[in-house]
Amino acid sequence: MLGGKNILLGITGGIAAYKTTFLVRLLIKAGANVKVVLTDSASSFVSPLTLATLSKNPVLSSFVGDDKDSIDWNNHVELGLWADYMIIAPATANTLSKMASGACDNLLLATYLSAKCKVFFAPAMDLDMYKHPSTKVSFDKLESFGNIIIPAASGELASGLHGEGRMAEPEDILEFVVSHIREGLPLANKKVLITAGPTYEAIDPVRFIGNHSSGLMGFELAKAAANLGAEVALVSGPTNLEVVNHQIQVEKVVSADEMYNAAHSFYENMDIVICAAAVADYKPKTKADQKIKKSDAELTIELVKNKDILLSLGAQKKNQFLVGFALETENEVENAKGKLKRKHLDAIVLNSLNDKGAGFGKATNKITFIDKNSSIKTFELKTKAAVAIDILNEIISRIHA
Ligand code: CTP
Repeated sequence: MLGGKNILLGITGGIAAYKTTFLVRLLIKAGANVKVVLTDSASSFVSPLTLATLSKNPVLSSFVGDDKDSIDWNNHVELGLWADYMIIAPATANTLSKMASGACDNLLLATYLSAKCKVFFAPAMDLDMYKHPSTKVSFDKLESFGNIIIPAASGELASGLHGEGRMAEPEDILEFVVSHIREGLPLANKKVLITAGPTYEAIDPVRFIGNHSSGLMGFELAKAAANLGAEVALVSGPTNLEVVNHQIQVEKVVSADEMYNAAHSFYENMDIVICAAAVADYKPKTKADQKIKKSDAELTIELVKNKDILLSLGAQKKNQFLVGFALETENEVENAKGKLKRKHLDAIVLNSLNDKGAGFGKATNKITFIDKNSSIKTFELKTKAAVAIDILNEIISRIHA
């Protein structure tokens, strides 16, 4: 969720400032670019050198840098524009009141006023300060500006008193920000099932019938759906691909029968289902228990049909938006439309083998998206990551219509 995002962390002068070193580490680990701006008093609680080292960026605290002749006095504007999100943590009563009133007597406040992005603030103060009506006024005013409060926790405070006012822990701040961002995404609270990759149909313990599908299209769909806020179940046949994203539950399978069972086990609760797997249409009628020895005689393997997973999901469809893939070589659109109807799909993604750069084992794909109302949209040749976003945007525009 935070991968590649620019996060501006504003630190003010409270004891909880020391915890921001952990917050910076967590943000960097989550893939964010982090810049830190801190008030003078914050630097009494946490070392700028530590923050610069962890964030891999210079830490800013004054309008004028060491070079007195430089013209970077207005870097607050640049910082405000750079940030995708600003987090002020800890946010003291003093800074919150200044933010609420528009005061601008340090770089952090000037940057806050220049920021066009979402601003989160994590208050930290003693319990009576936290409860004070003027603090409440600051909170209300900041929320009315669209800023988001990360509520303080209860516990032991620096004063020795117990109560509300402790800055939320760094892990909780990260979780809060990530959940908030996710809530605003088009697939927030949606569950998406994706099938990907080939299936291997065993002949004997060491041999199988398979195909050249890399699984890349399905994996890119899973990543794109997660990045758009969805909770994803990815049922994948054997591939070399890995995905580490706690929004994506990967279920590894080998055969079409296993994929059938896994896909059906997730199906009922899903909002969107995309079958991108290249499922083997046939499997050997029997799997030999032992490795088949060669002999002088010819070998015939009897094949029987696999169950069509997509067809079966279509037959049981309730509210799911169901999407299939079709790989065609002739009468492409007509054949794809025929599959869409026969399998009770909401849409089908057509790949034509006549298009260079499309299909199996390629990093790129060229698709035509066809929906059940016969609306047809053809896309340019793109990376599979970009194609995944196109497909999901087409789906989103239909489920939100
Ligand atoms: N599919 C499936 N289970 C199968 C076979 C296919 O779920 N046993 C899904 C694929 O994941 C894909 C779509 O069905 O979404 C492909 O449909 P299919 O009728 O198999 O078309 P093609 O693979 O293009 O092959 P053919 O034209 O030979 O039917």
